[in-house]
Amino acid sequence: MTDKPVIEERENGPLVVKGVSRMVGPDGAEVEVKPVMALCRCGASKSKPFCDGTHNEIGFQSRGGTPAGKDVVLSYKGASVTVLYNPLVCSHAAECVTMAPKAFDPDRRPWIDPDAEDAATLESVVRACPSGALRIEGQDHLIPDGAQITIAANGPYCVLGMEIDEKIAGEGATADKKVLCRCGQSGNKPYCDGTHRDAGWKDG
Ligand code: SF4
Ligand code: FES
Repeated sequence: MTDKPVIEERENGPLVVKGVSRMVGPDGAEVEVKPVMALCRCGASKSKPFCDGTHNEIGFQSRGGTPAGKDVVLSYKGASVTVLYNPLVCSHAAECVTMAPKAFDPDRRPWIDPDAEDAATLESVVRACPSGALRIEGQDHLIPDGAQITIAANGPYCVLGMEIDEKIAGEGATADKKVLCRCGQSGNKPYCDGTHRDAGWKDG
């Protein structure tokens, strides 16, 4: 194993991950890790999560497209807590909406109302936010427990505590948690922008 877990992008090819100690699959089961692994991010491998070279056949491009959100830090001020949100970084998995629907309602404007939940609930949501799109003003990012790589069913790679050689990131983003595209269709690769959900992308 390498000392420090890292992710390297291969141009128009897979994500090469080195030194991962733990990876969990879409079914919640542990995936056996090797010191170096090439993970599919074109969405088309027949050996997911591993790359089988199909990216060459389909002409996968590791850049291009239009991100679903802007790179801007939006501020939602409450009486005692202000929530910050960067739409570019958001993977739109809606953990926030599921965990605290009164505070996070995408059909409302403004969509975040910090006063609709107590501070402890807001902190739980911000910690669970896999992408770091959400922060609480005046605090560092809150990082959840979990495997270094968790593969979401029909969705992206959720990554904890791994450096990536590509420095594209949104304003205020953290290196400590990130969500990386696995379907090949994000407009903000290597990061997930939620396109897998809109496109109905499936693992199988
Ligand atoms: S990435 Fe964070 S802000 Fe975006 S939907 Fe998921 S929990 Fe909400
Ligand atoms: S990135 Fe190689 S098969 Fe998908």
